Amino acid sequence: MDAYLEAHASQESDILKEVSHASHAETTQGHMVSGHQQGVLLGILTAVLKPKLVLEIGTFTGYASIAIAKALQPDAKLITVDTNKNTSAMASFFFEKSKVSSSIEIHEGQGLEYLQMTNLIFDMVFIDADKENYPEYYRQTLPKVRSGGLILIDNTLWYGKVLEANPKKKNTKAVQELNNMIAQDTRVEAVILPLRDGLTIIRKK
Ligand SMILES: C[S@@+](CC[C@H](N)C(=O)[O-])C[C@H]1O[C@@H](n2cnc3c(N)ncnc32)[C@H](O)[C@@H]1O
Repeated sequence: MDAYLEAHASQESDILKEVSHASHAETTQGHMVSGHQQGVLLGILTAVLKPKLVLEIGTFTGYASIAIAKALQPDAKLITVDTNKNTSAMASFFFEKSKVSSSIEIHEGQGLEYLQMTNLIFDMVFIDADKENYPEYYRQTLPKVRSGGLILIDNTLWYGKVLEANPKKKNTKAVQELNNMIAQDTRVEAVILPLRDGLTIIRKK
């Protein structure tokens, strides 16, 4: 089914193929890259919402950043945050190469610290970083998103581990806590798409 889904999504651009290839060849964690289907979905959501200001937590090598930035309106901006200087440098190289660097600001640092210090209000936020902090990311992100804006959260099925009845791993517990919190939150409407290992789409009412 995965191969079928890949084959029937819109074509992946050459630059995104290159980012994906470099992520596997030049880092030890190539599996973290957003990938083809998610890139297409992020581009569609960005094109429909027409956000002026987007935040991404977890840049890695820049795959999702480029997918989002390519769909932004000319006056819009993406701020992307990551702790890893090496992969942020790779992302920066690919932002230049794909001619989107003028609409992307890279911030090196902790995602939670960035959320605590910023006064900006975002139209769309993509959370794709340390799973252990997912509940806290959600708590701190919601007040920083405008009404009608979107929060997208990656890996919310956590390779199926969310079904574990008594999880031992902190990450699994955190993703379960996040999913329960969102399902009960009347300030938003949300759904988990079973794309890869889960992408939650949340609209702030
Ligand atoms: C799954 S990858 C992000 C993938 C990326 N969004 C993409 O489209 O390919 C997760 C990233 O989160 C970063 N990260 C981990 N902990 C973090 C933290 N506390 N604050 C910010 N970034 C963090 C990692 O360095 C890693 O690059």
